[in-house]
Amino acid sequence: MDTTTYRAYTNIALIKYWGKRNKELFLPVTSSLSLTLNEFYTETTLEWNTQSNEDTFTLDGQILDINAIEKVSRFINMFRDLSGIHRPVHVKSTNHVPTAAGLASSASAFAALASACNDLFGTNLSNKELSTYARRGSGSATRSLFGGFTVWHKGIGDESDSSYAEMIDEADWDIGMLVVMINKEQKKISSRVGMEHTIKTSPFYKLWPETVAEDLEAIIPAIENRDFPTIGQIAEHNAMKMHATIIAADPSMTYWEPESLTAMNIVRDLREAGIPCYFTMDAGPNVKVLCRLSQAEEIKKAFEKHFSSDRLVISGPGKGPHKIS
Ligand code: DP6
Repeated sequence: MDTTTYRAYTNIALIKYWGKRNKELFLPVTSSLSLTLNEFYTETTLEWNTQSNEDTFTLDGQILDINAIEKVSRFINMFRDLSGIHRPVHVKSTNHVPTAAGLASSASAFAALASACNDLFGTNLSNKELSTYARRGSGSATRSLFGGFTVWHKGIGDESDSSYAEMIDEADWDIGMLVVMINKEQKKISSRVGMEHTIKTSPFYKLWPETVAEDLEAIIPAIENRDFPTIGQIAEHNAMKMHATIIAADPSMTYWEPESLTAMNIVRDLREAGIPCYFTMDAGPNVKVLCRLSQAEEIKKAFEKHFSSDRLVISGPGKGPHKIS
């Protein structure tokens, strides 16, 4: 085989990953849990490089420079070492988002790349094993090796193999998200830097592992019972606790923008009006509204009073990565 193309979807954490216990291996401080989304994905084509002795990489049609490719090459080295095939490759990645807005994600990117590497280098890893490799590109990529609701287990000590993802529910029921694009610019403080700063300086960080463990213990049975309000309440509270911990760092920082607060208030108003929906936010200003997929259009209409419709994207649950060609 000379070429392969994989598609992988992004995921949004309902119980967040915020902090590494081992930076080199991307081993997290806590386990986390997410919902994979079908509207946001990366497609990656991988082929043997016959034009150059080095790896080359185009992202959304742009040729990346040597520095940007270094991280990708190091990632691919794991598969070269595993297979014993030390050949250079050409990587072509395209991020698919419904509008020209952001939310291009390292989660879908590294899940697609890991899946394509597994195929081209013939390493035959299972998705569970592959998730431990995707993790070393970006932590959240671990969870994009599966669809639906997926748990990323924190694992034990420095054992890379023990920190893998596992799907707990296909999410083949009435659930989805409305993504509210607040700002499509690249985030100012990366998750990696934000996490390190929070761990080092936030006095609240010591509470984080315990509260995550409690939230996970409560949300898993709620998912099994398809108890949507309980899932939403736990997810919203978990996100707010993460952001409170970040705000308490020194110097203080926040990923929120004024419009993020506007979006949160719309969610609260909708709830008061009897429509169950809950928000979550990551290392950027965009707000993701967890809702019943059957009510997503109605919720979107309420948002259209404040946000133009090209900034609002409804998504149902997504699947694990799959081969396109
Ligand atoms: C807030 O996976 O982007 O989205 O592992 O350093 O690449 P690195 O970080 P990344 O962090 C994601 C943080 C988060 C929460 C989450 O997705 O669990």
